[in-house]
Amino acid sequence: MHAMLNIAVRAARAAGRVISKASENPQHIEVTTKSLNDFVTNVDKAAEDAIISTIHKSYPRHGILAEESGAKVGDDADYQWIIDPLDGTTNFMRGIPHFCVSIALAVKGVVQHAVVYDPMRDELFTASRGGGAQLNGYRIRVSNAKSLEGTLIATGFPFRMKHILPDYLKVVSSLCEEAADIRRAGSAALDLVYVACGRLDGYFEAGLHQWDTAAGDLIVREAGGMVTDFGGGTNQAKSGNIVAGNQKVIQGMLNRMRKELPKSLQN
Ligand code: IPD
Ligand code: CA
Ligand code: CA
Repeated sequence: MHAMLNIAVRAARAAGRVISKASENPQHIEVTTKSLNDFVTNVDKAAEDAIISTIHKSYPRHGILAEESGAKVGDDADYQWIIDPLDGTTNFMRGIPHFCVSIALAVKGVVQHAVVYDPMRDELFTASRGGGAQLNGYRIRVSNAKSLEGTLIATGFPFRMKHILPDYLKVVSSLCEEAADIRRAGSAALDLVYVACGRLDGYFEAGLHQWDTAAGDLIVREAGGMVTDFGGGTNQAKSGNIVAGNQKVIQGMLNRMRKELPKSLQN
C-alpha cells in the first residue's frame, strides 16, 4: 500500500474509533443546526480533529479541505486532503447505523488516493489511482448490469435545494419504471462505494460537496465504473450533481435524466 494511502487509512480508523465510541453514549451527542435541516455534532468535529492531527503528524506541510473546519492551504500547495469526517450525520444522530468517514488526497488537483470507512461494519474501501479498488483488501468491481432494467439505484433527495424537488421526483419516477427499486440510505460516500462493489448498480444525487464525493468517485472508477455529471459530462466535482454506475447503467440513467431535467441542471 502506498505510504500516503496508509496514512489516510490510519486517519479514517482513528475517526472511526471516535465515532463508534460516541455512538455507544448517544446522550452525549450535541447537535447544532448549520442551516435548515442540516446538522453537525460534536462528534463530527472530534472525528475531523482526529483525522487532521493524524495527517499532520506525517505530512505537516500538506493542505486540508475539511467539511467542518474549511480550507487551509499548506506550505506544500500541491497536496490537499479532502475530508468528510462523518458522512451521514442525520443517520448518526438518530442511531441509524449507516454512516462513514471519507478521506481523499488530491495532488495538483487530481485525486490519487481514497478511503471510505464504515466503522459500524468495519468495512474499509480503498483505492489509489491506477491500482484498482479494494474492500478490506479484496479487489472490488462495479456490477455487470447490461441496462437499467432490473437494477437497484440509490439517490439522495435535495433537502437543501427543495426548489428542484419537482424535477428531481420526475427523474425518480422515470427511473423507477425500469429499475427494480430505489434506495435513499443517507450517506453519499457509502452510496458511491456500494456502487463500486456492485451492491448497487447506480447512484445519482444533486448539490453535493467535494468532501462527499472525492473519495467515492475515485473508488468507483478504480472498480471499473464511470462517474459523470447530470449531462454525462465531467463537471460533477464543481456542480455537485453526480451520476455513478457501470457504463451501460449510466447511459440508461442519463437518457431518462436528460428528458426530465431542465438544462440548468444538466451539468
Ligand atoms: C450528507 C449525506 C447525505 C446526502 C447529503 C450530504 P453529511 O452528508 O451524504 O446522504 O444526501 O447531501 O450532505 O452532511 O451527513 O456529511
Ligand atoms: Ca457528507
Ligand atoms: Ca459530514
